[in-house]
Amino acid sequence: MSRLLITGGAGFIGANFVHYWIKKYPADRVVVLDALTYAGNPANLEPVGKHPEYRFVHGNIKDYDLAVNLLQEEEIDTIVHFAAESHVDRSIHGPDAFVDTNIIGTHTLLKVAKTVWLDTPKTETRFHHVSTDEVYGSLGPDDPAFSETTVYAPNSPYAASKASSDYMVRSYYKTYGLPMTISNCSNNYGPYQFPEKLIPLFILNCLAGKALPIYGDGLNIRDWLHVEDHCQGIDLVIKKGRVGETYNIGGNCEKTNMEVIEAICGLMDELSPNKDIGPYSSLITYVKDRLGHDRRYAIDANKITAELGYAPAESFETGLRKTVEWYLSNQGWCQNIMDGKYREWIEKNYEE
Ligand code: NAD
Ligand code: TYD
Repeated sequence: MSRLLITGGAGFIGANFVHYWIKKYPADRVVVLDALTYAGNPANLEPVGKHPEYRFVHGNIKDYDLAVNLLQEEEIDTIVHFAAESHVDRSIHGPDAFVDTNIIGTHTLLKVAKTVWLDTPKTETRFHHVSTDEVYGSLGPDDPAFSETTVYAPNSPYAASKASSDYMVRSYYKTYGLPMTISNCSNNYGPYQFPEKLIPLFILNCLAGKALPIYGDGLNIRDWLHVEDHCQGIDLVIKKGRVGETYNIGGNCEKTNMEVIEAICGLMDELSPNKDIGPYSSLITYVKDRLGHDRRYAIDANKITAELGYAPAESFETGLRKTVEWYLSNQGWCQNIMDGKYREWIEKNYEE
């Protein structure tokens, strides 16, 4: 039986991971630590709210004393660290929060783990750091995909802050022997994703009859992975991955943004047609390109596949269909975000 601290568990991937873990390992203790920033939403955790081994703690990963107390009181043996500022566009407009949470926050958690786990050694512990393929920079059309040995070359403030945090995690292993693993994953999509990222934003804009803003020429390429396949990959790395190692997780699914957008519009035409709008592709609008927009990401997932037996269950077609269906049947969740009601609820229920 394991005792997990999951940071950022009220966000998109963290919440999916909490659902995944509780379903698969119901006897494990699961403690979520989340500051409930704009991206954190307690509604994402509602389905597990009554599970006897689940606990939600409202707090910041930069709060050293809170995290030390949690690790001791809950006898945590595994930290799965999702908490981060995660949106590239926000990092372009305001990088400070990215330095604060992604670098300083991660370093605070590392200090906590070192103090509690290494100063009084426990049986087996693991600090798993969830990171991104964006640390590797941008690929040309014929470059080989990112592997674990690709040199880091982050371009956006988001990517640079994640790269820094990866290096801090590595240093705590090399210097102090903190047992850690890192996973670098490609673009995720699926339920509970905050509608600022491409896929949920475009689904909700279709529903609202709003423009679908394509940055630049729409030919930037991302590798797409359904969030449950990411969760499965993290599970394998935590359970079977070698301490001190990095594992890339990807979907072998490179798509241009245009291909993704056409697929969303096609599914929306089929599942939620609107005669007044016509085909949803009529909402496509080309807008000014993102500053420093990375051209192409691609993941070489051979290491996790060969060493840990990783294989994604969803294809892009099946995963995207499920995702569009989820947003269509959870319009209350979407509406609470769009009209800001979820913030009012948080302010009422989590007053400082
Ligand atoms: P998200 O923005 O949806 O959620 C982030 C969560 O972290 C929120 O619940 C937020 O309240 C919480 N948080 C933020 N700052 C905090 C702080 N200082 N203390 C405590 N909690 C805080 O992010 P996501 O898309 O779920 O990404 C989760 C992790 O996965 C991130 O580390 C991100 O870098 C990484 N990642 C994301 C993707 C992707 O496609 N979304 C791909 C690869 C890796
Ligand atoms: P995003 O979902 O923000 O993820 P990331 O920047 O981490 O890859 O964006 C995915 C791609 O879609 C990226 O190339 C930027 C592009 N994009 C748009 O063209 N329009 C949009 O409104 C958004 C949010 C993204």
